[in-house]
Amino acid sequence: MSIEKKAFGILADGRKVSAYTLRNEAGAKVKIIDFGGALVQIKVPDREGNNADVICGYDQLDSYINGDGYQGALIGRFGNRIGGSKFTLDGKTYKVSVNDNGVNSLHGGICGFNAKIWNAEMVDGDEPRLILTLTSPDGEEGYPGKLDVKVTYTLTANNSVVIDYYAVCDKPTILNLTNHAYFNLGGYNSGKIFDHKLWLDADSYLPTDEKLIPTGEIRSVTGTPFDFTTEKTIGQDFDLTNTDLGLAGGFDHCFNFKGGETEEPVLRGILTDEKSGRQMKMYTNQPCVQFYSGNFLNNEKYPFKNNYPQGLQNALCLETQKMPDAINHDNFTDCVLRPGQEYKYTTIYEFGVI
Ligand code: BGC
Repeated sequence: MSIEKKAFGILADGRKVSAYTLRNEAGAKVKIIDFGGALVQIKVPDREGNNADVICGYDQLDSYINGDGYQGALIGRFGNRIGGSKFTLDGKTYKVSVNDNGVNSLHGGICGFNAKIWNAEMVDGDEPRLILTLTSPDGEEGYPGKLDVKVTYTLTANNSVVIDYYAVCDKPTILNLTNHAYFNLGGYNSGKIFDHKLWLDADSYLPTDEKLIPTGEIRSVTGTPFDFTTEKTIGQDFDLTNTDLGLAGGFDHCFNFKGGETEEPVLRGILTDEKSGRQMKMYTNQPCVQFYSGNFLNNEKYPFKNNYPQGLQNALCLETQKMPDAINHDNFTDCVLRPGQEYKYTTIYEFGVI
């Protein structure tokens, strides 16, 4: 119904950062900044019709620049980790930036897409859209090939936030784009997400080592705390004496959807907060989701909006993606993009009430 642009802040080098607010007839509101293409606010009603902001994040640009956690950001070139920060593609070995645990590469490296200013184009209408584009030069953060990326955020009439990802390259490369929004359906300032219920259409997950690099095993969820094929609360099996949960401090694992990648987006996850009545359905055509239960949300220096303190498990991410470190495991999903191919996928976060 409307889209509006406002100043959000200025980078040290003088570049201006803007915020874009999308509104629909139903009264929902979505705010995105062009720094990192970050989703900084989603205001949707509870069962009484009261809006709350269900996205964690900050009030000011400085925290988006210096705070950790990739709040709401678009992630690229490669979501999650690349073990040893290197990979071999078509016989050639590439080294990518090390920015995690002194050895691995996380979320695209030192200056990933989360730290870029994206070009923004506003499209008004019943379902307002923000089209974000950027070009990543050949060799950026060590990745081969020039990459042209387009991400479109749409707020639909039925309170869905649709994220369309698109990219093309000029040399063979690897790619794994996602969004790193932290959700709390009670509102960003309502504490732990242990009572949220989650259903995931995932029959296996990827165990990791202590630095959160997948071991290579694709393990069935059956009989483990990772079984969300029947809806349950996040707290129910949050047991850090379980080896995999203990290594990560909670859920921070790639869950693999039944049957893998699909042509069209399919319903793959449902998150429900019975207290507020808010529910979020997640549709995607990606093969996996990284379910991260906010196990590092404890940086006191960067409180959330309105000075609400960070807190472990105060929010969770559902990052649709291909498998982390896929290029280093022959049994993992394909993550190679070649010239002439189009990288294209859609994730929909649909908000409703129960
Ligand atoms: C990863 C976590 C990481 C976090 C950064 C998540 O996508 O799975 O391991 O710490 O991003 O905030």
